[in-house]
Amino acid sequence: MNDLGRVIPAVRYTSPNWLARELESVFGVAWLLAAHASEFEGAGAFTTLDIAGESILITRGGDGALRGFYNVCQHRGASLCAQSRGRAASFRCPYHHWEYGADGRLLRAPGAGSAALTDEGRPVSLRPVHCAERFGFIWISMAEAPPDLDAHLAPVATELARHRPEEYRLVSETVVEIEANWKASVDVNNEAYHLPMLHPELCDVVDARGARFVLRGDHSTVSLPIGRPGRDVSPDERASEALRGLLVRLGVKDFPIDGRIADVRLALARAFRERAAREGLDLSARSDDDLARKEQIHVFPNVQMNFLPFSLELYRHRPHPTDPSRSWFDELTFERHGSGAAPNPIRRRVRHGEHDLGPVMGADIDMLPRLQAGMRSRGFRALRLTEGELGIAHMHRVLEDWLSRGKAT
Ligand code: FES
Ligand SMILES: [Fe+2]
Repeated sequence: MNDLGRVIPAVRYTSPNWLARELESVFGVAWLLAAHASEFEGAGAFTTLDIAGESILITRGGDGALRGFYNVCQHRGASLCAQSRGRAASFRCPYHHWEYGADGRLLRAPGAGSAALTDEGRPVSLRPVHCAERFGFIWISMAEAPPDLDAHLAPVATELARHRPEEYRLVSETVVEIEANWKASVDVNNEAYHLPMLHPELCDVVDARGARFVLRGDHSTVSLPIGRPGRDVSPDERASEALRGLLVRLGVKDFPIDGRIADVRLALARAFRERAAREGLDLSARSDDDLARKEQIHVFPNVQMNFLPFSLELYRHRPHPTDPSRSWFDELTFERHGSGAAPNPIRRRVRHGEHDLGPVMGADIDMLPRLQAGMRSRGFRALRLTEGELGIAHMHRVLEDWLSRGKAT
């Protein structure tokens, strides 16, 4: 990559015009992750997603079919459904009580003359968006003719399939309103370069030196060894308290108090295999080294999935409709769910600083307004990306492609 690809104009993070282009040519076209399919199972379930200035209503009809619509009443444009999720046979607009079925068709329009009830000869209906289910997630596209979803996901399909996300269930959802551009929020999770400096507490349990970064079409993956420190260790060195704490959190209860660092990753892999055997999950194709890694899959444009063998932290970054210096960061925590009742997820919406996100995520999120303020300064022109930040450079190249395609059409 030449130097040009590593010098990114800061204006991309601060300009309302640039944001408007992203909303039009990227978020208005791309397939966007809306929800996990398990969040609305059964006829009548619905959910809404606010993204890029639009509200999208996704319904599961009596026929089991999944449909997506702009959440806008076709009478005078009131936003239709104010709830973020639930179960309903129909949706009634609060203004004049026009009522729509889960298939989007207008069912009732009290006192309206028949002329108002057709749209170019067809019955009035909510305006549809494309909606499809892949890998256990619901994806939407607002394009009239969207890109092929399978082709879009193909470069990361093997990685996604390996983790079987359809078997996961949502445990918690935290929506954080932050004062930073959505890309700054993506970037902070798109490089391991900052780990030793911003998260020194991770140095004992994660080896950032062993990060493997792979470009995959519009997307990318990073796999990060866990269970060993980011430094050379001697063969007999004992595992630190931090390493033993990681083992306990990930289900290893019997690691000896004087156990060696060299045995930690093997103990992790063994515990994952034992749990897999209990839950009927086949991990035989995966090596011990592979199991003791966190794998991040960045699905362009705005989703990062961080997989361990039984847990998934999914980050979704949603741009503000008009202000390039604001966005929403969604932290969705999933666990692989064997059998029995699915968890009842905890959901919270907070402003930055109102909720303790833990030391690592907290430090990342705290950095964002500082980045954004600096990027707006006359004293800062461009990001200068290092070898360890090629994921950020890649995302900008992909973004440029999408924006130039948008210009051509
Ligand atoms: S705007 Fe919805 S019924 Fe009038
Ligand atoms: Fe971080």
